[in-house]
Amino acid sequence: MSSLSDFNLAEESNFAQTLVGWYEHHKRNLPWRHTHDPYRIWLSEVILQQTRVAQGLPYYERFVAAYPTVTDMAQADERDLLRLWQGLGYYSRARNLHQTAKVVATNLKGVFPDSYHNLLKLKGVGVYTAAAIASFAFGERVPVVDGNVYRVLARVFGVDQDITTTTAKKTFVALALQLIQHARDPATYNQAIMEFGAIQCTPVSPDCMLCPLQQQCVAYQTGRQQLLPVKAKKAAVRERFFYYFVFHNHGRFALRERTTRDVWQQLYDFALVETARQPGGEPTSVLRDLGLTGQLENWVLRGLQTAAPVPATQLLSHQRIRALFYEFDVPDRIAGILPDGLMWYLPDEVRALPKPVLIVNYLAGRLDK
Ligand code: ADE
Ligand code: SF4
Repeated sequence: MSSLSDFNLAEESNFAQTLVGWYEHHKRNLPWRHTHDPYRIWLSEVILQQTRVAQGLPYYERFVAAYPTVTDMAQADERDLLRLWQGLGYYSRARNLHQTAKVVATNLKGVFPDSYHNLLKLKGVGVYTAAAIASFAFGERVPVVDGNVYRVLARVFGVDQDITTTTAKKTFVALALQLIQHARDPATYNQAIMEFGAIQCTPVSPDCMLCPLQQQCVAYQTGRQQLLPVKAKKAAVRERFFYYFVFHNHGRFALRERTTRDVWQQLYDFALVETARQPGGEPTSVLRDLGLTGQLENWVLRGLQTAAPVPATQLLSHQRIRALFYEFDVPDRIAGILPDGLMWYLPDEVRALPKPVLIVNYLAGRLDK
């Protein structure tokens, strides 16, 4: 563990006081701040790991309305839950949410673990979420350490270690543990430091001119706000090319569930051929390049192409998906033999299926034709 003597520990005790004082004046009124229900706090934190507060709020409201208790969520149809999650990405998190709800509802009789230590045993609950629930719901003195906290601590205390390394994480956790000892109320302190990172000490333009920590802030005093925290560059984004074949027959659409270990597992999309490079030229030559075989080829060759190919792109955290959608009407005489995994769905059924945003956007305005 790295030495804490590097930091200005004399400033520690007023750090917590100053932050909480700032928080009382600037905090946003957010629904999960008015509850001690560990289920709702857990739910809010899982959502907020995926998105910003403004975008996360409506998701939180819809989840709470659909599943007021952990038992309600446990009993949910996973498809409905994924549908509510639609647009947040990382669908494995939604599945973890469901699994954990089932464990709490069944094995723990609907009662969440009430300590940081036991919360960590839940699937999908890491050190950050466990600390958030333990402090917000039960007042336990454990520090939350998320991206906001790294940024605030790195700047105020001048920590210049690369936050993607294990060593740095230990340093920040040790510092955070020291700091929370001085807080009167650990829950408020944790909310305060995250809120401070979210709206005062922001990534690109921290509001240093009106900051109560200005005097003690190492980054401000040395003009290094833009250099802290230090973060190693991310791996390059991988490019993928998806050729979607959108087959319809009397208003029905052919979709299939994605079952392989890849993006969008358990969501529904259309017949898909992925290629390493983006082929160009005529639709027919593109289809030949794709090397279609079996019934898929049969449908493409005997189907009636109903529109020019529609391009679309979706950026995920480590992948950029460039898609091209080809639409075909499938004649009745061959519609009964479906290519691998595809099934026919009526528009209402298609709407109800959990789908990647790329597919949702493509379908917008097309389901009612
Ligand atoms: N981001 C993560 N957790 C949060 C919380 N409890 N309040 C506001 N923003 C957050
Ligand atoms: Fe952040 Fe600027 Fe305040 Fe330092 S002075 S804590 S960099 S807002």
